[in-house]
Amino acid sequence: MQDRTPRPDELDPVERIGVDELRARQLDRLRWSLRHAYDHVPHYRRAFDDAGAHPDDVRDLADLARFPFTAKAELRENYPFGMFAVPREKVARLHASSGTTGRPTVVGYTRADLDTWAKLMARSIRAAGGRRGDRVHVAYGYGLFTGGLGAHYGAEELGCTVIPVSGGMTERQVMLIRDLEPEVIMVTPSYMLAIVDEMERQGVDPRATSLRVGVFGAEPWTEDMRRELEQRLDMHALDIYGLSEVMGPGVAVECVETKDGLHLWEDHFYPEIIDPVTGAVLPDGERGELVLTSLTKEAMPVVRYRTRDLTRLLPGTARPMRRIEKITGRTDDMMILRGVNVFPTQIEELILRTPALSPHFQCVLDRQGRLDTLTVHVERRAGAAVDEAERAGAALVEQVKNTIGVSVAVRVIEPDGVERSMGKMRRIVDQRRDR
Ligand code: DLL
Repeated sequence: MQDRTPRPDELDPVERIGVDELRARQLDRLRWSLRHAYDHVPHYRRAFDDAGAHPDDVRDLADLARFPFTAKAELRENYPFGMFAVPREKVARLHASSGTTGRPTVVGYTRADLDTWAKLMARSIRAAGGRRGDRVHVAYGYGLFTGGLGAHYGAEELGCTVIPVSGGMTERQVMLIRDLEPEVIMVTPSYMLAIVDEMERQGVDPRATSLRVGVFGAEPWTEDMRRELEQRLDMHALDIYGLSEVMGPGVAVECVETKDGLHLWEDHFYPEIIDPVTGAVLPDGERGELVLTSLTKEAMPVVRYRTRDLTRLLPGTARPMRRIEKITGRTDDMMILRGVNVFPTQIEELILRTPALSPHFQCVLDRQGRLDTLTVHVERRAGAAVDEAERAGAALVEQVKNTIGVSVAVRVIEPDGVERSMGKMRRIVDQRRDR
């Protein structure tokens, strides 16, 4: 793999400041952001007053813990524009969260917010190993989803040549990669796998393409998936995180020189980890739910937004900002089987260690009597013999039992039998509700 580490002089000066200076900057910005939310968003004014927390009383960063959380429900209640802190005519763009259930959440950006987002995305792509002059193939969906346009403007800001492909038409994705020779691809990891399969189907050697760096996010994925993608594509595979409510992609990203979790751009977002049940703030290093407060956003500030994403905070390495560990999953994606918590990422790890099985899988939840059951649908890897894959499926049942501690069923399916997604992969198919 090519060395893609950015030179120190290419970094934004803030990527090299000391932690004390960073904390001081955060405190200034936090005071501004809380005040901005209090003055301009009726919901925040009410919620802060009810909690007896006033922006002027904030003396240090720990005082943030006295402010109330914001949950998705509050954004829904204020649909569509109730959480905006600027007059509507100052809003330069709207996006909406994917919202699998019920109303989506609408988010807004001022010109300055869009500029910050583009700069943070440029910083993220550079940290991941992209460079000025690279061709960047964007296969995240364009539209209300923040992935496509977020990646697009970030890559332009960095000085790249952007190829705005969007998701879908997998055969054409492969043709464009062959013909336009991008060095960087930005796409969900599950759709990247579908693209690699298509390359192989067309007789294109995935290791021989122009791709050097993949910036993968919008869904959870594991270290084992990194190994799979890096090995099959001979390129760096980096993780990028973000959510529409807080901005979009580019809240946190891995650095190519360390690949050790995602540096969270703390000069613009303040992270906390809480116990998802009690709401208590946990010390760095402990696992829990990530809560984010925006420090500079104008159109839609968020205060202690509960992301529902599970991770932990770790000290900075390649940058002064703290890292988050790769996300285990969302609290909503936690399956509970006979009292044991299971995430699709745990199943992914085990599948990827089984050569006869492909990484395409889904977790199908059902109910037998009063018990929930989980059946893992996983494809045989093209090239593996049928009986070999069946044995691997039986072994997977044992591995899940031994490492996670639950009994599941495994159904080995023929290649291409598991539904493909062009964006976020649906890992859990819940058939319990249909009963
Ligand atoms: O998925 C923004 C994004 C686009 C991030 C492209 C990265 C790349 P939403 O549609 O609002 O925004 O979904 C946000 O997706 O709360 C996580 O549960 C999940 N998610 C996003 N990135 C990651 C990641 C975009 N790297 C929700 N790892 C978040 C795990 C992720 N989960």
